This record gives sequence, C-alpha cells and structure tokens, in this order.
Amino acid sequence: LLSQMGPDALLTMILRKHPSQRSAEDLEVIYEELLHVKAVAHLSTSVRKELAAVLVFETHGKAGTVLFSQGDKGNSWYIIWKGSVNVITHGKGLVAKLREGEDFGQLALLNDAPRAATIILREDNCHFLRVDKQDYIRILKDVEANTVRLEEHGHTVLVLEKSTTDSTDQGGAGGSSKYTVMSGTPEKILEHLLEKVKLDTNGNDTIDSCVGDFLLTHKIFMASSQLCPALQHQYPLMFTGSELEKADYSLAARQKVVKLLGQWVLLYGRLLKDDPVALDFLEVRPPPLPGQTHPMGQWPEQDQERVMGERGGGDAVGAIYGELSCLPLLIMSRVSVVFFTLVLYEISRPDNIPITLMLPVNTSVQEVLSAVVKPGADYVLVKMNSMGDRAQLKLDSSAVSVGLGLNERLFMCTSSQVERLRPLKEQQGPEQGTADALEQMCSKDVASQLTHYDWELFTAMHEVELIYYVFGRSKFPGATTANLQRFVRRFNEVQYWVATEVCLCQDLMKRAALLKKFVKIASVLKEQRNLNSFFAVMFGLSNSAVQRLYKTWERIPSKTKRIYCAYERLMDPSRNHRAYRLAVAKLSPPYIPFMPLLLKDMTFIHEGNKNYKDKLVNFEKMVSQTKLFVHHKCGSCTKLINFNVKALVSFASDIKCISIFCSG
Ligand code: CMP
Repeated sequence: LLSQMGPDALLTMILRKHPSQRSAEDLEVIYEELLHVKAVAHLSTSVRKELAAVLVFETHGKAGTVLFSQGDKGNSWYIIWKGSVNVITHGKGLVAKLREGEDFGQLALLNDAPRAATIILREDNCHFLRVDKQDYIRILKDVEANTVRLEEHGHTVLVLEKSTTDSTDQGGAGGSSKYTVMSGTPEKILEHLLEKVKLDTNGNDTIDSCVGDFLLTHKIFMASSQLCPALQHQYPLMFTGSELEKADYSLAARQKVVKLLGQWVLLYGRLLKDDPVALDFLEVRPPPLPGQTHPMGQWPEQDQERVMGERGGGDAVGAIYGELSCLPLLIMSRVSVVFFTLVLYEISRPDNIPITLMLPVNTSVQEVLSAVVKPGADYVLVKMNSMGDRAQLKLDSSAVSVGLGLNERLFMCTSSQVERLRPLKEQQGPEQGTADALEQMCSKDVASQLTHYDWELFTAMHEVELIYYVFGRSKFPGATTANLQRFVRRFNEVQYWVATEVCLCQDLMKRAALLKKFVKIASVLKEQRNLNSFFAVMFGLSNSAVQRLYKTWERIPSKTKRIYCAYERLMDPSRNHRAYRLAVAKLSPPYIPFMPLLLKDMTFIHEGNKNYKDKLVNFEKMVSQTKLFVHHKCGSCTKLINFNVKALVSFASDIKCISIFCSG
C-alpha cells in the first residue's frame, strides 16, 4: 500500500502519526521535506531532525477559522504547510498575509507574552506543522535565528534580537535569553512594549525596563503629539464582541495602557507641566459616571473597572478618563523633580549696586528682567567674563545663571550702557584663601557637606535632561537642562575651589597641611560614593598650578602620597578610563557618577549611532543611552521601573529617595 501512495500522501500519513509512533524512516522523510520549508531551511541539520520528531500535523477546513486571537496565551509555533493566513491586530486590522513555508506564533513563546495578533485562515483546507511550546523552547530557544522581524503591509515594523547578556526577570519563556527591541516604527515598539506588560492579579505587575527607556527617549522619535493618540489607539474603547474572552482582552489591554501612563507620569512628574500635549491628554476629564467615585488619588479597583467595562462601549470611554483623572494629582506630587528650585541670581548694575534675586532655575531672561524693571523698559541682560568679553543675552534664553562660566557674571543695564560695563573686581578671583578656616574643619564634615549638596543637585536633575543635553536641547521645545548644567557647573566650582585654596595659601607648612586635607576629603568622598566631587577634588589637585608646588608635595606624609597616587590611577583616561570603570562596576547604587565622563559616553554613543536604521527607530541606541545612567539613583529607579499601580500614590510621595549617605 505504501509503495502505491504518492509522496504527498505518504508524507501526510507520516505527519498524522503521533510523534512517538514515527519510525526512523518516517523521521527521515519529514526531515528531507523540511529542507524545502522556508521557515526552517536556515536551521541546522540536528535542529531539523529534532523538529521532525515533534512536529504535529494540524488541519483546518474552513476559511475564516480563527486559529487564535490576539491576547490569547501562546501555546505553539506554526509553520504553514499548505494554504495561507491573515495576521490581524486590534486597531489596525489586516497587517500581513502569510503563505506556505512561512511561520508565525513565535513571538508569544519567545517573550512569554500574549499573542500579538489574531490569525485567521484565508482559505479552506489549510495545513500546519505545529510545534508545542515546550518543544519549541527546548529545541529552538538557543539555536533559532537571533533576529525576529515583523512586517506589516510588506514593510518591516519591528526587529527583535536575542540578547543573552541581560538575564533578568523578563527572560523569554523559561530561558535566560530575552528578545529585545532593536528597531521598529514608534507605534509598533509601543504596541510591543504594551503587550509585554504583565498584569498580575496581586497587583505585582511587572513592566519591562524598556518601557522606561521608551518613555525617557520618546521625544527623539515620537513627540507627545504622536504618543498620546497612539496610546489612545491602543486603548480599546469598544468591545468587538460580547464574549467574556474579548471583554477580558479589552480590559487587560486598557489596564496596560493605564499602567504605562502611570509610569510616564511617575517618570516625568512635574516636567509634564511643560508638555502641554501630554498634560492635555492626561487631564481631560469627562463628567463622572453614575456611581463612579474614586477617592482622590486612588486607582480604581480592578472590579470597579470590570463593572465599567461590562457596561459596554460608550461607558468605557468614561472608564479611561476615570482611570486617568488622578494622574494630574500624581504630577503634582512627584517631589523628586526639584524643577522649580530657586537659584540665586546676582546681577550687577553699571553703578555697581548689586541686585540679588531668588528665581526658579529655569527662568528666562525676559522673566528676570521683568522681575526687576517695568515691562517695556529698555534694559538688557549681559554676561561678561573677567577679561571683559561680554555677550547680550537673548530674551528667550533660560537658565542663564547656571550656564555662566565660573568667572562670568550677569549685568543689567540699558542698551547704550553695555559698552561701558567693566568686570567686577571679584571676577579676578579671591585674593585670600580660607585655609585657616578649613584647618578648623574636620575633613569628614567638609566631604559630607559637599556630598549633601551634590546629592541635592543630582536628584534635582531629571534623567531626561541628559537625553536633551546629548541629543541637542533645541530639538525639544520647552525642554530644560538647567539642573544638569547646574550640576556640571558644580564640578568646575569644586575643582577650581581646591586649586585656588591651595595656591592662595602663603605658608608652606599650612599649604602642605591643606594639601593633605584635600586628599583626605577626596578619600571620604570616594567612600561616600560621590564620584563627581571625588574627581573634582582630584582634578583640582592635579591642576598644574598645584602640581608644580614641589616643596609642598615633598612635605606630605608618604602614606598620603601613596593614597593620592592610587587615586591618580583612577583618573587615568587610558583604555577608555578603564580604571574608573572597574572601580564603578564594584559599586552598588545609589552613587553619584563622574558626570563629565557620563556625558562623554553618552555623546560618544549618540555620535556613533544614527537615530534611525532603515527608516525604523534605532531603539537599541535609545536603550544604550539610558542604560548608562538609569541605575545611579537606583533607590528610586528600580522602584520606578517595577511599580505597582496600587502603591503608586503612596510611592509618589517618597520617591525623593532615602538619604543614603547618612545611613552609610
Ligand atoms: P505571536 O504573538 O505568538 O502570535 C501572533 C503572530 O503573528 C506573532 O507571534 C507573529 O509570529 C505573527 N506576526 C506576523 N506579523 C505580525 C505583526 N505585524 N504584528 C504582530 N504579529 C505578527
């Protein structure tokens, strides 16, 4: 009988056998056949052989049959043996057609996520080769091609790549490798990240750290005016059917959007106030639904949502706003962004009478002027350095006080007086040091004060300021980098303070004691994990004006000298600052990084990598940027990334972070 069967019929018969009943010859036949199947042709012989032993034959008779739906749990991977299928996603409809030899269903298995699309048969009598999840993971997890590409309408929309370096909690099904987004269209990346949000009935939902990366960098490739509609689009308002499954799917999809929004608000806090589109989106509040009263600032309980959901399409519109209505509260309550910090503005007038003002760090020149003179008066703000080089500041420039060079000062005068301005005497630098006072202070106290202040500046700075700074602030309307500039300026202040104090000390013995004291201060700063000021002090000491004080250095105890030399080695820039990087790798966060190097690294990545790859967002670049800094403040960051909706409100008030340096 066998010899009379055609090859197709023979193969079908073999495939229909239970895998455990296939003989060695059967496996050989299947294996031979797999050589011609596009989806597996690239795999090694041994993998194809293993597949031959586990493939299950599955047929479906009717066009229009739904093989599985978006949001379902993923149990298998499919290869199309005969026929074709449509790939349909919510909100977009038909995005791709897959034909004989192509495969689908790997995404849910690789990411341990729900199905990203619905698969519907395009024709009658379709045949599939199915590999169940466990077999798929066992056989293909490690050998399968490292890249997964998804297409829509013939164009690639998402590229994922296996990364084995990061084996944290989000690992693909049962494995230590995970698939991370390399590139994609902004909308598809968003869709993918939302899919990967895991909802947990205990409220311990996890959000992939990529969501944080996405939110921190979204303005580079997706302005808020695009992000908001895209999120709205991902939020199913209408139920397409009455079945419970669909209602569940919609509910889950909506919860994920709300979670992402919560994350967004937590991450940006008050900075969102400068993003009118986002604020508008988050603040829209339609009239409350009957019986729907949320206590201020509390998220709706899941069952409340369910009730709202079951009311159907129309009311669901209310549900999203109900869920979102507390977000503005959160915006107000995020205290970590000391964005409105007041800074001292010291402005001199031509008559040398100083004006001293406390103004928000991000104040514009226009606002500074109107705080002092009547509107319309012909006054200008000028910055001038100790050499007398002056520059008139534009009315719309902001944060000018933190952007001043160390020997620059602000002056205010009428336009005709600009030429007559002369540098202040104090701009030439101090004539007397404070070595005597410093001598009285304990090095530990000085270091602790430095760290205390640095930590304030450091936490006032928002992560996104680094992104704006590196990618070019002018590209982001309304963006500020004021806190970052202030922090960078601080580095220079400390550095020159050290060098100045040493050089101004006239007495050799006292100078040697001062030098020793600064080495001790550096030591404590390092212990306190304040690498920024540690380096600032060390840079001060390595200033050539200090270095050439041979007699002073000679008087330093050899122990101090040894410590100093060891620290110098940490500053060695060779092999891309290897010594520093090794030292940092051993530190557990939170710590204050050496800011100039962090900015240099970010700039290096920025300049060496394009924002787009084949017209797709180069998301890999975005992630590598945020990876550089996101863990420094970890006390707050890890919580931020994996927050729990219910804890959100309570957390928002303690996000400022524990004063780690006090607790050691
Ligand atoms: P999975 O999420 O397991 O289930 C649906 C499958 O559709 C998905 O894996 C992919 O294999 C396949 N697919 C093909 N194109 C797309 C697309 N553009 N978006 C989502 N899924 C797609």
